[in-house]
Amino acid sequence: MTDDRITGKTRLAAVIGNPVEHSISPQLHNTLSRYMGTDLAYIPVKVEKEMLDTAVQGFCAMGFVGVNVTIPHKKEIVSFVDRVSDEAQLVGAVNTIKICRHGIEGYNTDGEGFVRSFREDTGSSFGNKTVVILGAGGAARSIAFSVVREGAANVIILNRTLSKAEQLCTAVSKVTGAALKPVAACSAERKDVIGTCDIVINTTPVGMYPDTENMPVDVDMAFSSSQTVYDIIYNPPRTRLLQKAENCGCMTANGLGMLVYQGIAAYEIWMDIIVPGQICTRLYDDLKKYMLNKGF
Ligand code: ATR
Repeated sequence: MTDDRITGKTRLAAVIGNPVEHSISPQLHNTLSRYMGTDLAYIPVKVEKEMLDTAVQGFCAMGFVGVNVTIPHKKEIVSFVDRVSDEAQLVGAVNTIKICRHGIEGYNTDGEGFVRSFREDTGSSFGNKTVVILGAGGAARSIAFSVVREGAANVIILNRTLSKAEQLCTAVSKVTGAALKPVAACSAERKDVIGTCDIVINTTPVGMYPDTENMPVDVDMAFSSSQTVYDIIYNPPRTRLLQKAENCGCMTANGLGMLVYQGIAAYEIWMDIIVPGQICTRLYDDLKKYMLNKGF
């Protein structure tokens, strides 16, 4: 039987990064397109840093609808975009481009993905909460802006390199007016800060496969059951940090939901539609099963 899933009418989208071999975005987007009844095919493309400009021109020339952008291109891509959304401007990185007749639009859907998944997975919100963000890289930046916008009362950036935490706090304060607090990960204050906050969010790669034995907090650190711990890592699904938090009775969530919802947000931008809630949930469930079947 002939395979007519891709025809001359099929619209195209891609994820670019280096590496992209382990990306699950193709499974996510191709499943989402099928559920939405869209004739769209989504492929992973490995692009070297020095070929980014040529690759973007190529996607435009070939009429791609849009492209997701991942490590290491999220910052560099900004200079190839004609219009940058307010969010992407704030974060200083683009993870989604939309190729329009009148040029390339750049967006960042990480913050939206994080907030949607946090709400759904934990059933709670940031209003009047004290939030500790572990790490001060790109993901921490998106999340810091989001939690301030969502009404967090106090935001603490705890990072190995204090100067990076200070820079992030200053950047977010400048735009939002909120007073964020930088703390060094090696300071004596760290245990108190983590032990007394409402929400801990890990944005560092510590604990991610294959570094599964490590934790971004002290091994003897105890949480209280009223705390919520979110790890943006989804491989493994239960990092040592999340295992510890679960053992202490905390509400926990991993980063698979963030990945799913940032992808859904990108699709909504490309297609100019809203994905219904039941399709979001179904897609998220499918991805959980997919990860489980793949042995993650
Ligand atoms: P991304 O942009 O994807 O968030 P990143 O920019 O590499 O990733 O940021 C990762 C964050 O995790 C950084 O804040 C980094 O700390 P430094 O600012 O000190 O570099 C933190 N991080 C990375 N590896 C770490 C480790 N082994 N221990 C503690 N923190 C680590």
